[in-house]
Amino acid sequence: MREVAVIGIGMNKWGEIWEHCIRDLLVESALMALDDAGVDKVDAMYIGCMSSGLFCDQEHLGSIGPDMAGLCPTPGIRIESACASGGLAFRTGYLHVASGIADTVMVTGVEKMTDVDGGKATFALATAAEQEYEVYNGVTFPGLYAIMANHHMNKYGTTRDHLAQVAVKNHYNGSMNPLAQFRMKVTVDQVKNAVMVSDPLTLLDCSPITDGSAAVILCSMDKAKTLNKKRLVKIAGSGHASDTIQLAHREDLSFLKSTAVAAEEAFKMAGRKPSDIDFAEVHDCFTIAEIMVIEALGFADKGKGGPATADGKTALDGEIPINASGGLKSKGHPVGATGVAQIVELTKQIRGEADDGRQLKKADVGLAQNMGGSGASSVVHILEGV
Ligand code: COA
Repeated sequence: MREVAVIGIGMNKWGEIWEHCIRDLLVESALMALDDAGVDKVDAMYIGCMSSGLFCDQEHLGSIGPDMAGLCPTPGIRIESACASGGLAFRTGYLHVASGIADTVMVTGVEKMTDVDGGKATFALATAAEQEYEVYNGVTFPGLYAIMANHHMNKYGTTRDHLAQVAVKNHYNGSMNPLAQFRMKVTVDQVKNAVMVSDPLTLLDCSPITDGSAAVILCSMDKAKTLNKKRLVKIAGSGHASDTIQLAHREDLSFLKSTAVAAEEAFKMAGRKPSDIDFAEVHDCFTIAEIMVIEALGFADKGKGGPATADGKTALDGEIPINASGGLKSKGHPVGATGVAQIVELTKQIRGEADDGRQLKKADVGLAQNMGGSGASSVVHILEGV
């Protein structure tokens, strides 16, 4: 396996974007990434997208991507793993360059979610849950995460305030990110008193419905060294794992096993352990998710993710800053784009190019964790500055 570097990044402003269709979104970040990398062609394009068919009546993104980016006849491959589609597209691009099948590739992620009403968006998202039992009985993603939150609270004493503190932190970080969907700061009381979505999760415990895209360019480290980049960013570790799609089939509702297993693979490949990681971007689709993810990644002991957040361990100036970008909660969650945007943020931080106030003092080794559904799939990457 060859060493692989991230040499270009691009991301548009996320939010409710009426003036552009999914093709425009996809191409906007793709062109930014090509420009940043200083290349005008790639060997392949990998496109993470969960459900362009249900959100936009448009499939065949593997063809649309290269066409709209002016890259034909470059092959395009659409990759789907629900909300982990972007992370899995990145892993696929990485593996192809590492194996020598390709030398320079583009990985993009895109989702255009606001062209349908809230009911249809909730339905489209729920197709990533288990249909025969969970969805048939009326459960949605806020409902599934509320079940996990209640279990975590009962088992470990995690409190309503702990959940709210995740949202407060991530909105504070996102307030300094010009590309974020929601840049307002929120307080613990505002989170607790926001409209209830699925008890105990209120509106401000949830990631939003978002339009957006992100893209990165990868190439072999040998080639990257010839490109005269400011700071090279190496993909040091990559891991991918699954868990039961149905929550009821899990041994422990309060533990994200797929994240723990994917992280173990990535840590082993990188020769790293949790204490070596300077910062991380994780999948906070709901506040409880961030608490459970940092436990599964080994940044907090089991059951201690809430207190770790309350004690400031995961704040920008904490021991392990989590979601300096604002996370899914504030930056937004165009599901297929999220995993690629995490890599964009890791690369910005490692290069020292994050916005004022968000740039971390120590950002040499970063971790990205992206997951699908209620944790039925997880992808973890470790990136290092060279
Ligand atoms: N955080 C903060 N503010 C939000 C928000 C969020 N997650 N979602 C919506 N808002 C704001 C809107 O901007 C709007 O504000 P305004 O009245 O000032 O314009 C207001 O809240 C109502 O917005 P609306 O779009 O009508 O909300 P909604 O009730 O249709 O949807 C949720 C809210 C939480 C149900 C929806 O965002 C959702 O389903 N989120 C979860 C998405 C999901 O499951 N993703 C996959 C994860 S695995």
